[in-house]
Amino acid sequence: MFVWSKLSASKNSDLWEQRFATIQDATLVITSAPGRARILVEVYCPTRKQAWHIQKGHGGRVRHLKPQNWAALSSKTPPPVKVRETFVICAARTPAELAKARKAFPNREIIAVPADMAFGTGHHATTATVLRLIVDMAEGLNQRGRRWSLADIGCGSGILAIAAERLGASRVWGCDFDPAAVRISKENAVRNGTPKARFTKVDVLKWQPKQQWDIVAANIFHDVLEAAFPQLVRSIAPGGVLMLSGILRSQARGCLAAGEQAGLRIEKVVARGKWVTAVARLN
Ligand SMILES: C[S@@+](CC[C@H](N)C(=O)[O-])C[C@H]1O[C@@H](n2cnc3c(N)ncnc32)[C@H](O)[C@@H]1O
Repeated sequence: MFVWSKLSASKNSDLWEQRFATIQDATLVITSAPGRARILVEVYCPTRKQAWHIQKGHGGRVRHLKPQNWAALSSKTPPPVKVRETFVICAARTPAELAKARKAFPNREIIAVPADMAFGTGHHATTATVLRLIVDMAEGLNQRGRRWSLADIGCGSGILAIAAERLGASRVWGCDFDPAAVRISKENAVRNGTPKARFTKVDVLKWQPKQQWDIVAANIFHDVLEAAFPQLVRSIAPGGVLMLSGILRSQARGCLAAGEQAGLRIEKVVARGKWVTAVARLN
């Protein structure tokens, strides 16, 4: 593992987050402290070449990290996240840890997503908001006895797809252009006993959708959304919805306008912190 790092002004935090939002195989970590004018931006890369490439573009330094079992070294387990009255998302990795979580939250569905090299432990505002929207929509669809399907575009840990199967979706598919995310999603589907949730390595920008889904959830950052609107629009089943997330407040107006240009009607906008999530339908 190689780490590229650079100190930067804290006002540039969003820019770094956006710049590395879609970096493949690597993980961005931004460390800030209250009252400090500077942040530490780090990107953990599997290869030296990738770290050097970032250094070539942005300066900073590269260091080598000796291989270690990072998961085992991290003693701090993130707290579980509750979603409505339905889910608890926890970091349980083993069947024993999962059993412990089930005992602690007997009235909720447990989804186990250990912190791995893929985005989506439920703690980020974008993931949490999309999860709530899926829970709410599933309730309506299930009450009407409707069979429904969900596509998780930019699946990361697979959390949205796994939640959909737990909520009763009859067909669930997720994709990501990062092979590590696809592998981790498959592992998480096994861990959570959701065999219907299938995952494929697909770059949404090159995607030719062959099927349609009642819910298409794309928590994937505004620039990718804007470029992928034609594909996303084609993947929505008649009467279905597109959940758009990963949009910074400052980017929301432009991104949602691009969605409208592509044939969407924005039905609902939810802002949480600096992040915006929207629900859209076909015009
Ligand atoms: C913000 S994460 C969302 C993960 C998860 N769905 C969630 O809601 O927590 C965005 C994911 O989109 C993936 N991604 C970014 N650009 C992509 C593209 N062009 N095609 C497919 N996946 C992409 C990233 O690898 C990352 O896993």
